[in-house]
Amino acid sequence: MTDDLTVATYDVADGIAWLRFNRPTKKNCMNPALNRRMLELLDEIEYREDVGVLVLTGEGDSWSAGMDLKEYFRENEAKGLGAVRQAQREAYGWWRRLRWFHKPTIAMVNGWCFGGGYGPLYACDLAIAADEAQFALSEINWGILPGGGATKVVAELIPMRDAMYHALTGELIDGRKASEWRLVNESVPLAQLAERVTALANVLLSKNPVALKATKDAVRRVREMSYDNAEDYLVRMQEAANSFDNDGRKEGIHQFIDEKSYKPGLGAYDK
Ligand code: ACO
Repeated sequence: MTDDLTVATYDVADGIAWLRFNRPTKKNCMNPALNRRMLELLDEIEYREDVGVLVLTGEGDSWSAGMDLKEYFRENEAKGLGAVRQAQREAYGWWRRLRWFHKPTIAMVNGWCFGGGYGPLYACDLAIAADEAQFALSEINWGILPGGGATKVVAELIPMRDAMYHALTGELIDGRKASEWRLVNESVPLAQLAERVTALANVLLSKNPVALKATKDAVRRVREMSYDNAEDYLVRMQEAANSFDNDGRKEGIHQFIDEKSYKPGLGAYDK
């Protein structure tokens, strides 16, 4: 059967790629076709010169209602272990790709966000939710543990007591609570969500793109390193980034030291 290519869509405007889960009548839950399509679209978008930031959001009233319980779980389980493992590779594959995406990424959580949705949520570097959005690790409600990285996501982002409560009860929390627990950076009323995310994306677009990629990778990598290992990694990454983008870095120093036209402590140099 040919995959439905409309399950995820994107458009590009003013340096921002707006990538959307697009199964609104199914609350944007992730079926195998969507997982395959997302990987293709990330490939298409990643090195476009007119894209500096990627925003991941959902059509309709949902961000993503997690994995498709029918098409991802039940139908693959009926086919056997090979099909189950393939479906997992496809889902985890695009989330991993998103975690290390070449441009900074923002999750714009506009509505329902469940279970498997925590994979791409965590994969995005920053996350802004609507106050009205609803989050839950609902796995416990239908009898499984939060797999597919979801337990790792809450253990990484949320204090232990809150993570445990969230995983064991399956209760919904809204965007405000998700922000309080640091599952997202902040929440704003739904009516202001796109505007706030656009403003944040524009801040990122004003920065040196090589420094952005090196920095986002560094923040994820150093978490699991000793101080000494992190120090060593950062020295080497800094040198690698410098040699990759000599001109941009030199211009930043030049505008501060020679032209005195900006202060790096207060904003970005003029690209
Ligand atoms: N898997 C498969 N189908 C889904 C999913 C899902 N995760 N979520 C929604 N749908 C389908 C519904 O079956 C329904 O299909 P239908 O129109 O063919 O009957 C359609 O999407 C619309 O959903 P409704 O349930 O009718 O919408 P409602 O607004 O009443 O409820 C809600 C929304 C609360 C999000 C509900 O759909 C729901 O509980 N979804 C499941 C959420 C969930 O627990 N996801 C799994 C997390 S665990 C994991 O990802 C590993």
